[in-house]
Amino acid sequence: MIFYFSATGITKKLALTIAERTQESAIDIEQALAKEEFAYALKDSERLGFLSPVYFGGVPDIVRRFIENVRIQSGEHYYCFIAMTFGTGPFNATNQLVTLLLRHGITTNAMFGACGIDTYLPMFSIPDGDARKDIQDKMDTQNALIAEQVADRSAINDIRQGPFPRLTSAFMAPLYALARRTSNFHVSDDCTGCGLCAKNCPEHAIALDTQTHRPVWTAPRCLTCLRCLHHCPAGAIDHGRATNGKLRLKSYP
Ligand SMILES: Cc1cc2nc3c(=O)[nH]c(=O)nc-3n(C[C@H](O)[C@H](O)[C@H](O)COP(=O)(O)O)c2cc1C
Repeated sequence: MIFYFSATGITKKLALTIAERTQESAIDIEQALAKEEFAYALKDSERLGFLSPVYFGGVPDIVRRFIENVRIQSGEHYYCFIAMTFGTGPFNATNQLVTLLLRHGITTNAMFGACGIDTYLPMFSIPDGDARKDIQDKMDTQNALIAEQVADRSAINDIRQGPFPRLTSAFMAPLYALARRTSNFHVSDDCTGCGLCAKNCPEHAIALDTQTHRPVWTAPRCLTCLRCLHHCPAGAIDHGRATNGKLRLKSYP
């Protein structure tokens, strides 16, 4: 049983690669939360995985919320792994995820880190052309290796956290609080009013203006997962000024 959250597709691809290799079922945390499906039973020897992107050196709230509510009836000899995807480093995020699971009495047997494209567009850029192909090839190889190790139930810690993980994550937390303000988002005249941003927002933080059909952020804060921005067909959504004119991760792969 493999639980995953993915805003822009990178973690989903890893989850589906592992699910295909191991024949375990992949469960989208976003959908489970929407349907309030929190009770699961593991078969004996089943693999149990939790996959998430890293947000500002931490675990996204949506993943936290799900794990806090989930009830897993474990079979005997289950194998638990976590895998986090990131652009630079997970810092303390992996420890946070392990601790959340421990509160449910679930011990983690293996930890995997998958480094690739950084979707935090205010600070980073999405590679294009050959550079994009190179990085995607590397990520595919990395995904296949992780899937193989999960299939073998390897008990390894394959995560390089980055320098001063606890300190760096603690330093990033207040910056994330600022980034999460939805007042950072703005919409250009390129908006066609298609409504995809509102329909797909994992936090249901966007509504459409009844007259202009343009997105309006109705919650003061969101995950800043940037799905709205990356997947907008018209490229009409920006976050602050730093994302202006930058390539979006329209789809992954
Ligand atoms: C709000 C936000 C914060 C992020 N913070 C980090 C970070 O602290 N360290 C890092 O290496 N990558 C960071 N990233 C990059 C993502 O973790 C990475 O691109 C991930 O693979 C995206 O997965 P997804 O496509 O499944 O959503 C951040 C991305 C977003 C949107």
